[in-house]
Amino acid sequence: MKKILVTGGCGYIGVHTIVDLIENGYAVISADNNSRSSDRILEGVEQITGKKVKNYKVDLCNYDDTFAIFQENPDVVGIIHFAAFKAVGESVEKPLLYFENNLNSLINILKCAEEFSVPHFVFSSSCTVYGNPDQVPVTETTPQKPAESPYGATKQMGELIVSEVAKKGLMKGILLRYFNPVGAHPSACIGEMPLGKPANLVPAITQTAIGKIPELSVFGSDYPTPDGSCIRDYIHVCDIAHAHTLALAYLDSEKNETHCDIFNLGIGTGYSVLELIHAFERVTGVSLNYRITDRRAGDVTAIYANNEKARHGLGWTPRYNLDDMLQSAWAWESKLKEDENLFDNRAVGLN
Ligand code: WQD
Repeated sequence: MKKILVTGGCGYIGVHTIVDLIENGYAVISADNNSRSSDRILEGVEQITGKKVKNYKVDLCNYDDTFAIFQENPDVVGIIHFAAFKAVGESVEKPLLYFENNLNSLINILKCAEEFSVPHFVFSSSCTVYGNPDQVPVTETTPQKPAESPYGATKQMGELIVSEVAKKGLMKGILLRYFNPVGAHPSACIGEMPLGKPANLVPAITQTAIGKIPELSVFGSDYPTPDGSCIRDYIHVCDIAHAHTLALAYLDSEKNETHCDIFNLGIGTGYSVLELIHAFERVTGVSLNYRITDRRAGDVTAIYANNEKARHGLGWTPRYNLDDMLQSAWAWESKLKEDENLFDNRAVGLN
C-alpha cells in the first residue's frame, strides 16, 4: 500500500482528503500540531473507513521534529501539504505570524521531502492567489494580482517555492487552487470545526440557523453584481478531497506536462451571498436571520473557476451541487448540536 503523509490532517479539507485516500487504497499518516484543530476528528475517519490514522502532533516549523516523522516513515511516497493558518482577517492583523508559520512549515516539509527522496508533492493553494480578477471565470493562466492579504501572499509564495523545488527534477509537484470549500461528508461523521466565530460564510450560515450566532451579517450589498452581494465559487469539500487522490494518480501516471502542474478546483459557477442564503432556506426550511452590513475589507467582488483543466487533466468531475453542499453543512451543524461534547469542542477551545 502506498503511504501518504497528509500535513494538517486534522483540518477541514485534510480530514476529508484522508477519508478519500483510504477509500482509494492508500495508507495514510497525518502531521498536525492541533493548534487549530482536534485530533478527535480522526475518530470520525475511523467511523467512516474502519481505519485508525496515526497523527504526529508536531509543529512543522520545528525541523528536527518534522525530520523525525520521515525517519519513522521512510516509505512515504507522497505528501499532501495542507498545514497552514488560513484566516484572512487574522493574517492582516498578524502578518509575521502567517509568514513565519506558513512558509517555515512548508520549507521544512520540502527539505525533508528532498532528504527522503519523496517523489510527489501536492500543495494546498487557493483562488486567493488571483486577487481581484478583471475577468471571470479565471483559468490557471489568469494573471495573478497582488494578494489581498498576507494569507493570500503566503499562498502565492508557497506556490513559487514548490515550483522552484520541483524544477530541480527530484520531486514532481501539483498546485491545487481551491475556490470555496463548503459542506461536510455525507455521513456527518466529519466536517468543518471553525475556531470561535466563523469567518467563512457557510459555517456562519449554519451557526446562525442553529442559534449559535444571533444574526448573520451580509458584508455589503452594493457591489457591481446582480443582487449587490459578492459572488464566489462554492465547491463541496468531498469533491475537493477526491481531487487530491486524482492528483496523486496523475503524478503516478507520469501524465504531468510540467514539473509542477496547476489546477483550479471550483464548480465553475458563481453564486452570490444572498443566493446562498436563499438556497439554504429553501433546502433546509430554516429561515435565516440576517442583516446587510458594511463591506468586509479585502473581499473581491466576484471570482469563480474555469475548471476544464482539472476535468480533462485529472479526470475530475464534481459530484455534488449547491443543494448537496448546504444540506450536508446543515446535517453536520445539527450533529454538532446533538452531541455538544462531540470532539470536546469546548475542551480544546473550539467554538
Ligand atoms: C465568502 C463571501 C464574504 C461571512 C476565504 C479565503 C479563501 C478560503 C475561503 C482558505 C464573501 C461573505 C462571509 C459572513 C458574509 N480560505 N460573508 N458574511 O473570503 O471568499 O475566501 O475563505 O483557504 O482562500 O480567501 O470566503 O466564506 O469568508 O466569504 O457576507 O459572515 O461571503 O463577504 O463575500 P472568501 P468567505
